[in-house]
Amino acid sequence: MRAEPQSFDRVLSSMCTEPHPAAREAAERFLATNPGDPGTYQSAAALEDRAVAMLGEIVGLEIDTADAIGTGDDARARGGEPTGYVTSGGTEANVQAVRIARERAASATGRPSVVVPESAHFSFRKAADLLQVDLEVVPTTADHRVDLEAVRAAVDEDTAAVVGVAGSTEYGRVDPIPELGEIAASVDALLHVDAAWGGFALPFTDREWHFGHAAVDTMAIDPHKMGQAAVPAGGLLVRSTDLLDELAVDTPYLESTSQATLTGTRSGAGVASAVAAMEELWPDGYRDQYVRSQHNAEWLADQLEVRGYEVVEPVLPLVAASIPTPLFESLRAEGWRLSRTGDDRRVRFVCMPHVTREMLESFLADLDRLESRAARAVPSPGE
Ligand SMILES: Cc1ncc(COP(=O)(O)O)c(C=O)c1O
Repeated sequence: MRAEPQSFDRVLSSMCTEPHPAAREAAERFLATNPGDPGTYQSAAALEDRAVAMLGEIVGLEIDTADAIGTGDDARARGGEPTGYVTSGGTEANVQAVRIARERAASATGRPSVVVPESAHFSFRKAADLLQVDLEVVPTTADHRVDLEAVRAAVDEDTAAVVGVAGSTEYGRVDPIPELGEIAASVDALLHVDAAWGGFALPFTDREWHFGHAAVDTMAIDPHKMGQAAVPAGGLLVRSTDLLDELAVDTPYLESTSQATLTGTRSGAGVASAVAAMEELWPDGYRDQYVRSQHNAEWLADQLEVRGYEVVEPVLPLVAASIPTPLFESLRAEGWRLSRTGDDRRVRFVCMPHVTREMLESFLADLDRLESRAARAVPSPGE
């Protein structure tokens, strides 16, 4: 095989990034392990407990994680039960969260529904399709956050879950999570927060987004995005272990008794790299990275605005800007990896850890050059 992976030099569209060197090394070491069979792959399974404990600390779960992180103990060794697992990514975490909510609502009379903002990731469509639940999509307001009045109007006795996004894929926005928790509670529904992308940046902001801030029941948070772990390393976290029980099936031929995960065989590489990245970076490394990425995003937003493009200001390190389609296509032809929002076809610039100021300067130089070439190609009136 001669193929090489792409370089990150011109990647501005991805929610993933180059793994931290420690995460890469750990992934390679644990390549042939399977935490889905904890009776056989015991060290990978222990690492998963550690990953969940560390993620629990990041997302404000009131469990005794400080000990676990300090001593290397894992939750089970201390008699606790895990409050999550390392998924294949945000999609699996979202599907599983909807599955938990559906199981909880099983005694309801009507077909269960899940209320999601239009800004929610398309993985909720897969979840609804697979799990036979209705998806009630509610609009966002002008600031690209969910319209709370629309959520209030959408929920009823069939609502199994309300979803809030903490770091939306297209605009990096954070929904009002405490208010969504109140609305969910008013109809006895669960609140799921999708922090798959935002979860490693939000701890360094003043946003209210996690289990400690609001009545959150389940959450997606992905080490393989802002967490700088190797793919695949997502995370599903739950407020209490009985929520995971909704997912558990018996595993007769394994030494473990039950399995709550969606996939069977899973990547020990992803688990190990998530632990390695978090041990290296939580909290100071992630804070420094967030500050760098946020500054880059704000700087890029200013630079685009100065050039006359309409810009959606970055709340998290993600800028969206209106760039004409021919210019967008020319930039892509020059090798820039860019993508656009579904509604207004704004170009998204995801300022991930691999996106440096030098890279953005080089992008802007290409933008200016292609823009002036396009301007020269347009005949002036009377020509
Ligand atoms: C907010 C959000 N949720 C879920 C996902 C899906 O994650 P994955 O692609 O890891 O399945 C994404 C992907 O970018 C995302 O941005």
